[in-house]
Amino acid sequence: MPQRLQGKTAVITGAAGGIGSAMSRLFAQEGCAVALADINDEAGEKVAEEIRSAGGAALYRHADISRPAQVRDLFQETAGRFGGLDILVNNAIFSAGDGAIAEEDDEVFDRTIEVCLKGPYLCTKHALPLLKARGGGSIITLSSVNALFAFGETAYTAAKGGLISMMRLVAADYGEWNIRSNVICPGTIATKTCMDYWERFPAGFAKLLDMYPLKRIGKPMEVAQYALFLASDESSFVTGSVCVVDGGLLAGRKFEF
Ligand SMILES: NC(=O)c1ccc[n+]([C@@H]2O[C@H](COP(=O)([O-])OP(=O)(O)OC[C@H]3O[C@@H](n4cnc5c(N)ncnc54)[C@H](O)[C@@H]3O)[C@@H](O)[C@H]2O)c1
Repeated sequence: MPQRLQGKTAVITGAAGGIGSAMSRLFAQEGCAVALADINDEAGEKVAEEIRSAGGAALYRHADISRPAQVRDLFQETAGRFGGLDILVNNAIFSAGDGAIAEEDDEVFDRTIEVCLKGPYLCTKHALPLLKARGGGSIITLSSVNALFAFGETAYTAAKGGLISMMRLVAADYGEWNIRSNVICPGTIATKTCMDYWERFPAGFAKLLDMYPLKRIGKPMEVAQYALFLASDESSFVTGSVCVVDGGLLAGRKFEF
């Protein structure tokens, strides 16, 4: 069976994390050369090394996506090493917010917007000329169900909502370059960050599970599989879409009479 991303190159931000590392491994298994970007160098190098040991092509680069010079270097190095770029995955996040707006810390708010909204802006800006030079490409941006219903921390939720508007605009503005831009909104996914958070609120976690029609939360690979579809040519007519991968959370619960 042919590999679904054979001959393609991707930059994946936040690649040391739960969903980012799952996407990096899956894309590499499907023949994609992957440039992993993160600020957690030890974990990022480990994922890249694992991919290379399994016969894949991977490099790791330290890149704080809120810093323009580091983002520029990441894309230059990736194109230099792998000969171009076909796929960008905007996945990295910073999240330390406290919840409702009255309790939000101003510095945390600024840093969250810097990483979660300005970061994808910078990465997309640097990716576009490289994708154009290849005759097209796919940009996948991780938002959240938080952007679609009232739930979560103020700055994170605001950034995730902003991403939907920004990345739809990218679809409209750069479709004529054969560049597709799609957003994935995951529900709760069992990454370390997410589980560490919910461990503090066991009763809340039980209530959360009950809100899911499937009565469970998702796995990083279940998001990665959707991202693989959007990265591959199988989704060649899909752009500007907001794709929910949420175990039915937004569909709502069964009504009990
Ligand atoms: N896990 C969930 O429940 C869930 C739900 C909805 C949406 N999402 C979205 O999925 C994506 C991945 O989430 P995750 O749970 O895998 O997160 P994670 O915390 O496991 O990974 C995030 C990664 O981003 C890196 N990072 C932090 N700041 C950075 C910066 N300035 N520059 C570069 N890298 C930086 C971290 O080091 C980490 O490796 C995020 O966009 C998140 O908002 C996750």
